[in-house]
Amino acid sequence: MKKFKVINILDLLDILGEEGLRHYLLEFKCPLNLEIEQFVLDNAIEFAKKKISITYLVINSNDDMAAIFTLTHKAVEISNSGLSNSRRKKIGRYADLNTESDRFVVSAYLVAQFGKNYAINDGNSISGNELMELTFEILQKVQREIGGGIVYLECEDNPKLLRFYQNEENRFAIFDERYSKEDNTKYIQLYAIV
Ligand SMILES: CC(C)(COP(=O)(O)OP(=O)(O)OC[C@H]1O[C@@H](n2cnc3c(N)ncnc32)[C@H](O)[C@@H]1OP(=O)(O)O)[C@@H](O)C(=O)NCCC(=O)NCCS
Repeated sequence: MKKFKVINILDLLDILGEEGLRHYLLEFKCPLNLEIEQFVLDNAIEFAKKKISITYLVINSNDDMAAIFTLTHKAVEISNSGLSNSRRKKIGRYADLNTESDRFVVSAYLVAQFGKNYAINDGNSISGNELMELTFEILQKVQREIGGGIVYLECEDNPKLLRFYQNEENRFAIFDERYSKEDNTKYIQLYAIV
């Protein structure tokens, strides 16, 4: 039996109803990144209903929420210079090169939220690598249905997080950074091939 099940929040909404789902989402605690916790409580249901982004809940064998991730798709620019030939070839499949700016304009999948539930500490917790594997399983299903092949995400300039995304299993690569005035934060942008 699989250790974890992944369920689309809209399917869980059908099963539990809105009040039941809201109550269940209160289980999610992410003190390392309160923005994700806030998103789960305040936006995840609404955004899914409006199809802005879809949150997936990762459920462990005790039926507790071990983690969440949120997916959507969005246009992003990736600079052509500095890409290896093989990456350039792969990105070129899914993107147009703007020759003036020498940047690819890519329609990419976006991992908009990604975090473990730190309220789970009974041996049924999930590792970040396992969570990424489950995220890619969903992306590969979507890819099989409608195509596409680049995924990206934005993360704070934190060495531990950057190491995690770029490790041997997850294989994301940094392509740019973005300063958000709203959050007063610099985000590092990373992409991977699905
Ligand atoms: C990203 C994540 C899924 C990786 O999981 P993992 O590989 O199993 O790693 P861990 O949870 O053990 O964290 C690894 C280290 O990074 C640190 N860390 C994780 N997220 C962090 C964050 N947002 N800010 C600062 N440090 C963080 C942990 O404290 C830990 O430090 P330690 O090695 O000194 O104990 C998980 O760390 C997580 O859910 N973090 C909180 C949410 C988050 O920040 N998501 C990323 C948004 S871009």
